Amino acid sequence: MIKTTETMKAAVIREFGGPDVIRYEDIEKPKVKAGHVLVKILAAGVNRLDHYVRGGGYIPEIETFRILGADGAGEIAELGEGVTELDVGQRVIIVAGFATERKDKDHRPTITSPSFAFPEVQINGTYTQYMEVPDYAVLKDETGLTVEEVATLPVVLGTSVHALKQVAGVKAGDKVLIHSGASGSGSMQIQVAKALGAKVATTVRSAEKGEYAKDVGADLVINMREEDFVEKIKEWTNGAGADVVIDNLGGDVLAKSIEAIRPFGIVVIYGFSAGAEATIDVRNVFFSEKKLLGSMASDVEDLQWGLEKVKEGLIKPLIDRTFPLSQANEAHKIIADNKVRGNIVLLPWA
Ligand SMILES: NC(=O)c1ccc[n+]([C@@H]2O[C@H](COP(=O)([O-])OP(=O)(O)OC[C@H]3O[C@@H](n4cnc5c(N)ncnc54)[C@H](OP(=O)(O)O)[C@@H]3O)[C@@H](O)[C@H]2O)c1
Repeated sequence: MIKTTETMKAAVIREFGGPDVIRYEDIEKPKVKAGHVLVKILAAGVNRLDHYVRGGGYIPEIETFRILGADGAGEIAELGEGVTELDVGQRVIIVAGFATERKDKDHRPTITSPSFAFPEVQINGTYTQYMEVPDYAVLKDETGLTVEEVATLPVVLGTSVHALKQVAGVKAGDKVLIHSGASGSGSMQIQVAKALGAKVATTVRSAEKGEYAKDVGADLVINMREEDFVEKIKEWTNGAGADVVIDNLGGDVLAKSIEAIRPFGIVVIYGFSAGAEATIDVRNVFFSEKKLLGSMASDVEDLQWGLEKVKEGLIKPLIDRTFPLSQANEAHKIIADNKVRGNIVLLPWA
């Protein structure tokens, strides 16, 4: 008897370009290896990273196709040989970024693992019906949230906890400035900073996004189009400057973020929505011993800490809207137009 290859639907790119290079295709369903699990993806979150990967510049080339997506939630469809801690049908969250070799799984920070891989960057991602991952790269979903809500979390929650708690060491009472408070990352960082007991100021570029950021929990909202955020932060901190800035923007904004912190304060360089290149006056850093720190991806412990805060009701998932996976290109147009608030979710079985 001839055994036919099983297929599945996935949103893939075979070339770099605008949102319409995303193709909704039938591709081969992965087979589960020993020590791995096959996850039936019920919802896949969309991040700005996906837009960068699709546009080119993040991965050097695409050999055949690349499945986009770093955020995924679903249920276990199959267990590989030797997997005993998980059950078929169990709800799980895929960890955003993990070592692909079991021997490397405990390296911390995880990005230092010799076999570190981020879904869609080094390996195929979550915009698919099934994804095969090592058993230690999933967490049991005990949040009580809908699968769509859970799918918004791994990237923004894990990396926000990493940036604020691990890298910047934010503590109760700190005054923190977070850029783009209505964005996927910014809206989560506001919630994580509040869960750590900080006071939060945030920047936006429209009144409507300002309302959104206020509802998410920001204590002070600054419309960058109308107000100078450095002046507003100085007023807010009685002339001192913020303890920490989470800079999701880079570009021309970074130099001003440095001005907005107090002496010995910290700017965490987290993203580059406003540009990947920046010019700074070095004297503004060393004269007052300010610290510029990078924050990249997260460790599973960051995500676990964040999920505990979700269970305590201190952090909420923020769904912008959902699309069937076949319309992943429409989701990318919203990101490209800077129209997203919170996170968009794709549904592979809709
Ligand atoms: N370090 C990490 O581990 C990590 C993890 C996740 C994401 N990131 C990075 O963080 C950045 C933000 O990601 P995201 O998912 O939050 O993006 P997003 O949800 O797409 O939001 C980006 C927002 O940035 C604002 N913006 C865009 N261009 C701007 C400009 N020139 N000046 C001022 N504001 C501008 C827009 O909001 P307004 O209209 O309100 O200005 C836009 O909606 C990206 O560079 C991403 O790669 C890093």
